[in-house]
Amino acid sequence: MSVCDVPAEPVLHPAILGRYSPVRFDRDAVVGDAAIDTILDAARLAPSAGNSQPWSFIVGRRDDPVHARIVAHLAASSSRWAPDASVIVVNVVRVLVEGTDWAYSEFAHYDMGQAVAHMTLQAMAIGLDAHQFRAFDRDAVAAEFGVPREWEVTSMTAFGVGVQADGEGPGVARGRRSRDDVTWVRDRRLPAGS
Ligand SMILES: Cc1cc2nc3c(=O)[nH]c(=O)nc-3n(C[C@H](O)[C@H](O)[C@H](O)COP(=O)(O)O)c2cc1C
Repeated sequence: MSVCDVPAEPVLHPAILGRYSPVRFDRDAVVGDAAIDTILDAARLAPSAGNSQPWSFIVGRRDDPVHARIVAHLAASSSRWAPDASVIVVNVVRVLVEGTDWAYSEFAHYDMGQAVAHMTLQAMAIGLDAHQFRAFDRDAVAAEFGVPREWEVTSMTAFGVGVQADGEGPGVARGRRSRDDVTWVRDRRLPAGS
């Protein structure tokens, strides 16, 4: 466990505060194998229900053959910006036990989302922005990479160096619900003396 000061007012970790989903990436930014290994390891180390680790990733680096096979199945919207990112990762989740119709884990999608979240924050820690998206043909990507029926192509993440010119809007909706709105129940005040 790491320990840090709890401020009187919320102060978020820079990676959480600075994270955004870029719709423009620096085409000159090249990501090496060590960086890709690092973000994959962040996903690997994520917690999962019963340590079930229901995830797998298809990794395409810009200009490599895997990247070209991924990009071929992007929707018109994501094809405007995702191909410029240094790396596109396809997030694949295990939904069924092999050869059966039994759910692999009740929490498979939950766990996959958490692994991707860890990946994106680790990416920020090594200078890479990330934009998750689902604007692509899932079935076509599954067919392209021979993903069997027990696994589901869920989403993609584009990793790279985001570019935002002065005054340029974010490109995706960024409004957030308030803290009160996302809190179902909470007793804010600690009992006296504690
Ligand atoms: C599962 C998932 C699917 C998404 N799909 C798309 C998408 O298809 N196209 C897109 O531009 N952004 C997509 N996004 C990004 C969201 O639009 C974005 O996270 C949201 O607007 C908040 O903006 P921010 O990430 O910059 O804070 C997706 C994000 C997630 C987590």
